[in-house]
Amino acid sequence: MSMKLPFFKNKQEETSAHTDLENIPNHVAIIMDGNGRWAKKRALPRIAGHKEGVNSVIKIVREACKFNVKILTLYAFSTENWKRPKPEVEFLMKLPKEFLHIYLPELMEKNVRIETIGDFDALPEHTKEAVQYAKNKTADNNGLILNFALNYGSRYEIMQAIKQILSDVDTNKINVDKLDESSFSNYLYTKDFCDPDLLIRTSGEQRLSNFLLWQLAYTEFWFTDVLWPDFNEEIFQQALRDYQQRKRRYGGL
Ligand code: FPP
Repeated sequence: MSMKLPFFKNKQEETSAHTDLENIPNHVAIIMDGNGRWAKKRALPRIAGHKEGVNSVIKIVREACKFNVKILTLYAFSTENWKRPKPEVEFLMKLPKEFLHIYLPELMEKNVRIETIGDFDALPEHTKEAVQYAKNKTADNNGLILNFALNYGSRYEIMQAIKQILSDVDTNKINVDKLDESSFSNYLYTKDFCDPDLLIRTSGEQRLSNFLLWQLAYTEFWFTDVLWPDFNEEIFQQALRDYQQRKRRYGGL
């Protein structure tokens, strides 16, 4: 006679069972780090790590949909990443198109809306075209917002906001006395999104690397030594469960 385990059918269910579905972060932001080291450990070129990193992206998108996360912001390319060798930059710039070519039908089916933050105009034409197509195609979807930070730099974003505010003050569009944290936020790329509740960074590095400096003021940080290509559903759920143990006080008691 086969004995049936009383609670869980498999490991996956066991993990999900402990995640409180009533306390899921609305906005999760991820610094996907460690692709290069993943490749190096296997004596592969760095781009192999980025390619493998795309598999982690779709895994976590599916997981975010499953857990009803509202916004998933992924740091895919920073304003500083242009300093990398040209072939690596070119490879990274092809990834959005490749990803969307394979997964756009699934993203449509899952009701995912694609958005971006960053200096979009400065991206190569082929990248812009593919991403813009996906943004248009998914514009009416009202499920997960999959927000790629592409050519994103937080200091640049803040400088641009300040310049625009000065210009709007000049032309009397805004009154400087009325400027507050909320109206300042409206000048940022993220103006339509709530601030991240949870920031995940992989690969053991514990720094922000010019990511969402304004928006992360009250975000819970979660770090793991796991390299991004090894990041998976179980580790994401671990991050959610740890987040659920945090007491968010926003400076109060
Ligand atoms: C940092 O790792 C990672 C990046 C700069 C690129 C991240 C991009 C992806 C994971 C793929 C994005 C996918 C889509 C669909 C746009 P690193 O190269 O700095 O790693 P290292 O610190 O080990 O060298």
